[in-house]
Amino acid sequence: MKLMIDTKECIGCGQCKSVCIRDNIEIDDVAYETGSNCFECGHCMAICPTKAVTLKIFKGREDKIVDYNPKDLPVSYSDMLQFLKQRRSIRWFKNKKIDKDTFNKLLQGAYYSPSAQNEQDVEFVVLDNRLNDFMKHVYNIIKVEEEEFFRIKQFGDYIRDNSIKEYHPLLWSGQQLILTFSTDKTSAVIANTRLELLAYSLGLGGFYSLFILKADEIDHDKLMEFFPGIDKNKHMYSAFIIGYPKKHFKRTIPHKDINVKFM
Ligand SMILES: Cc1cc2nc3c(=O)[nH]c(=O)nc-3n(C[C@H](O)[C@H](O)[C@H](O)COP(=O)(O)O)c2cc1C
Repeated sequence: MKLMIDTKECIGCGQCKSVCIRDNIEIDDVAYETGSNCFECGHCMAICPTKAVTLKIFKGREDKIVDYNPKDLPVSYSDMLQFLKQRRSIRWFKNKKIDKDTFNKLLQGAYYSPSAQNEQDVEFVVLDNRLNDFMKHVYNIIKVEEEEFFRIKQFGDYIRDNSIKEYHPLLWSGQQLILTFSTDKTSAVIANTRLELLAYSLGLGGFYSLFILKADEIDHDKLMEFFPGIDKNKHMYSAFIIGYPKKHFKRTIPHKDINVKFM
């Protein structure tokens, strides 16, 4: 049993039952649990009008509970759209590092992210001091595709003699990198996107790297040697270089039309 139901507070309204997708709640004057199907999504707890339902796993984390009026949206559609319009990839950064408190602020976006089966198994690595070691590790894996991709060849040349190039061919002027690991690709990407958007709200910027991700596709086991503390069933599904923007864009640029089929 995963829930604590305060039978004195419960008014038997059935709202908890109506949002439970695991048929784990029934009403007999008051709510009760029918079995152990619960996957701890917390919908029952979040909708209860009298705070009668609590998930046992949330005990001690009451400070994370915030009441809000569902009719008050904190961001308007037009503000949100304008925010998305103003987003651009940032590859040129100031020589200033993001501190741990700021990273923790960004991770709040991931903390509230949805995940497949409510697994909540997305985890992050922030590479800073060990970034160069990691990039060498990546190169040793992706170099098998050097003939195919000019950018990987450039990366190899850079590692062999980094005095000859002004910018890193994969990181540009980035000095910090966020990697996202999960068993489920979609959950990882969603979590990273939220973190990315919060970054823009704090005046930070960054870009995703496809070449770094290649390391996981080419030799997952070797990649994971760099991260002995991470479960090998998880994959690196997102690599986001982040920092304080040095260049500031002034206008939006049109995109190709989006193809949508309404069927
Ligand atoms: C999955 C993904 C991988 C990307 N890989 C790289 C990359 O390896 N190097 C890079 O400089 N930019 C990379 N980008 C950034 C794109 O090039 C960029 O989004 C595109 O040029 C459009 O620019 P904008 O993001 O400013 O709209 C990547 C973006 C995505 C979504």
